[in-house]
Amino acid sequence: MIVLGIESSCDETGVAIYDAALGLRAHAVHSQVDLHARYGGVVPELASRDHIQRVVPLVREVMANARVESTDLNAVAYTRGPGLVGALLVGGGFASSLAYAWSLPAIPVHHMEGHLLAPMLEQDPPTFPFLALLVSGGHTLLVAVAGVGRYKILGQSLDDAVGEAFDKTAKLLGLPYPGGPQLAKLAVDGDPTRYRFPRPMTDRPGLDFSFSGLKTFVLNTVHAESHLEAAKADIARCFEEAVVDTLTIKCRRALEETGLKTLIVSGGVGANQRLRERLVGLGQKTGVRVCYPRMELCTDNGAMIAYAGYCRMANAQLPSAFSAKARWSLNELEPV
Ligand code: KG4
Ligand code: ZN
Repeated sequence: MIVLGIESSCDETGVAIYDAALGLRAHAVHSQVDLHARYGGVVPELASRDHIQRVVPLVREVMANARVESTDLNAVAYTRGPGLVGALLVGGGFASSLAYAWSLPAIPVHHMEGHLLAPMLEQDPPTFPFLALLVSGGHTLLVAVAGVGRYKILGQSLDDAVGEAFDKTAKLLGLPYPGGPQLAKLAVDGDPTRYRFPRPMTDRPGLDFSFSGLKTFVLNTVHAESHLEAAKADIARCFEEAVVDTLTIKCRRALEETGLKTLIVSGGVGANQRLRERLVGLGQKTGVRVCYPRMELCTDNGAMIAYAGYCRMANAQLPSAFSAKARWSLNELEPV
């Protein structure tokens, strides 16, 4: 079984070939970071146009690298949502057209299910059941995962997603887009004890998150600071500590409440080094196995879509049934 996967939900065009017998045969990502940088955020219309330009050469490149012909393929998987609707329509429309031309089924994939299953692409993958912490620019979710499509959302952000909080805070500090990785870089030299930022919603029961107040706290600190330039690294570090601490506390709580013994972490913020250190430490202390996909499979990519598509073979549709879903909860998925 060989699946071509296409991701285009936001500002990365991702393409991959997953082979059930051989694993991930090839994948490539084109990031639009440079395109959106001067606007300080993703411009949806520019994102759609760039996906149009990138997707064909990327599919050619990945198929050549994987040494796969169209006749070797069994299906074309694409991200149906959630995401920017124009960007989704480009990837979904192209994937469905390819499937139609090559007489293959098309498989619509939930982007967050892709992130959730990405650790399965690694050597020695986690086994079900596990707890998943999904942390990206659009989502912050704690999910109990019993199997493919058997998801129970235990907690989520009531306002900003954690990646969004990183990006907005980075903007307050005058860092270029995309802010998350830049803020993390700046934080390395910062003093984690200089400011005490809140750990939102950790002082009450429950597994939901809220990050917008933390961002306001940083804004007030920025305004009050008379030597801002000298304080930026410390602010970045203290913000990062507050976020990482909050995520670690909620993961510990969710592991205790569910009794689960495996934690997987995925999504763009899963690339954060400090978060990795803290969660690995939590795992060592509590006897919980902590699994990450490699860095390039933490952020948006086609490999996770090809793999989730393979798991969702049963959802294969005629290409003409193609649609995009800008908003789509994991709760709506059927078990496999
Ligand atoms: O999963 P992803 O690539 O795209 C979405 O589906 O949102 O996640 C992107 C998010 C952005 O908010 C970005 O700033 C954040 O992940 N991010 C990071 C780091 N690398 C990416 N945040 C903190 N530290 C990082 N090292
Ligand atoms: Zn994502």
